[in-house]
Amino acid sequence: MSEYHLHDVLVIGSGAAGLTLALSLADQYRVAVLSKGEINEGSTWFAQGGIAAVLDNDDSVEAHVQDTISAGAGLCHEDSVRYTVERSKAAIQWLIDQGVDFTRDSEGDDYHLTKEGGHSHRRIIHSADATGKAVQSTLVEQVKKSENISIFDHHIAVDLLSEPDTNSGKFRCSGAYVYDRHTQQVDVFQARAVILATGGASKVYLYTSNPDSASGDGIAMAWRAGCRVANMEFNQFHPTCLYHPKAGSFLVTEALRGEGAKLKLPNGQRFMDRFDERAELAPRDIVARAIDHEMKRLGADCLYLDISHKPADFINDHFPTIKKRCLELGIDITKDAMPVVPAAHYTCGGVVVDKHGQTDLDQLYAIGETSFTGLHGANRMASNSLLECIVYAKSAALHIKQTLPTIKPVNQVPSWDASRVTDSDEDVVISHNWDELRRFMWDYVGIVRTRKRLERATHRIKLLQKEIQEYYSNYRIGNDLVELRNLAMIAELIIRSAMQRKESRGLHYSLDHPNQNPIARDTILVPTNFAAQTIFVRN
Ligand code: FAD
Ligand code: SIN
Repeated sequence: MSEYHLHDVLVIGSGAAGLTLALSLADQYRVAVLSKGEINEGSTWFAQGGIAAVLDNDDSVEAHVQDTISAGAGLCHEDSVRYTVERSKAAIQWLIDQGVDFTRDSEGDDYHLTKEGGHSHRRIIHSADATGKAVQSTLVEQVKKSENISIFDHHIAVDLLSEPDTNSGKFRCSGAYVYDRHTQQVDVFQARAVILATGGASKVYLYTSNPDSASGDGIAMAWRAGCRVANMEFNQFHPTCLYHPKAGSFLVTEALRGEGAKLKLPNGQRFMDRFDERAELAPRDIVARAIDHEMKRLGADCLYLDISHKPADFINDHFPTIKKRCLELGIDITKDAMPVVPAAHYTCGGVVVDKHGQTDLDQLYAIGETSFTGLHGANRMASNSLLECIVYAKSAALHIKQTLPTIKPVNQVPSWDASRVTDSDEDVVISHNWDELRRFMWDYVGIVRTRKRLERATHRIKLLQKEIQEYYSNYRIGNDLVELRNLAMIAELIIRSAMQRKESRGLHYSLDHPNQNPIARDTILVPTNFAAQTIFVRN
């Protein structure tokens, strides 16, 4: 039997963004938090390097702002950058107050700050090389203590619910249909405010640093519900993921380069200074493209990252997770270089929101990697993501607290209708399409693009979407089908955005348009059912 749930607030996603928001509302409201799998399965858990913030007396908001804008290749929204950076110190203090144990410096007086690509100062606060684990586990601990927060793990939101609002004359979001992986039923969750905190979409690429949950569900759901999405062509590729048949999607943090690790060719030669004067500490788009270029030039399967010149104690203290994982695979990073390749890492675009995380659909918010705030421009600077999660979760929470008392109760919707679908007898269609989609996105819409490759991708995605839609209409849904449908939507949005950008900027590099246009513009896609328009006359 499917179930009906009614809360004040529904948070879809249990990463840094979703949990921060839930904790910030729990003193006043009853909050439901959904997570697709186990509560820790999002990207937050895997974050390594740390969180960028202005914490050192020699650093300044202005320097952090300018570094972010420079990494963003002219496309950052300066007001969003300032808004975020000005709140960075308070965001870190809030995490410390929750109990996050950040690494101290060698004297133990202050927090240790590391450096990453694009940053002109040491400003990355971290918990050794497992910052995400420290943040996520602390927030989960706090959430579990709260009587007002209910966690629903293994619950995957399928689509958003909306209803006409007589006050605004527009539609407003009133909840979501949610597939319960335990009961295999679709439940109804309703609330007066709904928050998409579903993380990014890097799973759309064959090789990624992201966990399986990163299938862009929130972006796809928002788009289907009539919200604009922006800058989807800017998918960030992290330069250094471990290259080993048994490594899975294991990232090698940029903080290694911040602490002196060098990138090398198979013959041991350094090469980054040929591409940028900042060498290994150039922004990520430049480093990933340089590695891709050298790998293709040499026909190499991978390049190398070497920190073995540093004392073994230093490596042990700062990078215990990476050292342990590499040792398990037979690589001693105190003696040997690590084989590395770029992999899809971060979705810079997303659901268009304002300073409070509000989307085009009333009562629907988007925060964290799902959202497009204007902070990252054409290339996110390292460690600005977790910062954005905390800052925008807090500002969305504040807005919800101010407005929810005036929001009317929702109208109950009918249960999900599964009367016209049957069990699939051909699940191979899902696995085949899943593989095909991620491979052609890697091959045709990857680090270096051409018009011809994008046209091929357009053709492929149209065929796949037709097949997937047919399957979705006829068969009972499950996790893989929900994700595949969303990934196909995401692929279409990325390809359409990439086709529209007739220049090379930041993470979007086109051989047909190698130059940068003098004027920087966002790529904003508007759905045909655009939610922000007035759809009926108020009475
Ligand atoms: P996530 O943490 O990804 O959480 C998403 C949540 O949504 C999950 O709980 C998932 O189950 C849930 N979900 C998704 N779809 C649905 C659905 N349909 N229904 C219900 N629930 C759903 N950034 C930094 O700033 N510093 C770093 O050092 C850093 N290192 C990184 C290292 C790695 C390996 C990776 C992958 C990313 C790293 N990033 C880093 C990026 C950063 O971790 C992420 O951008 C950030 O954690 C995203 O947080 P989030 O709360 O938006 O989403
Ligand atoms: C890393 O540690 O290299 C990842 C940092 C980030 O993605 O911001």
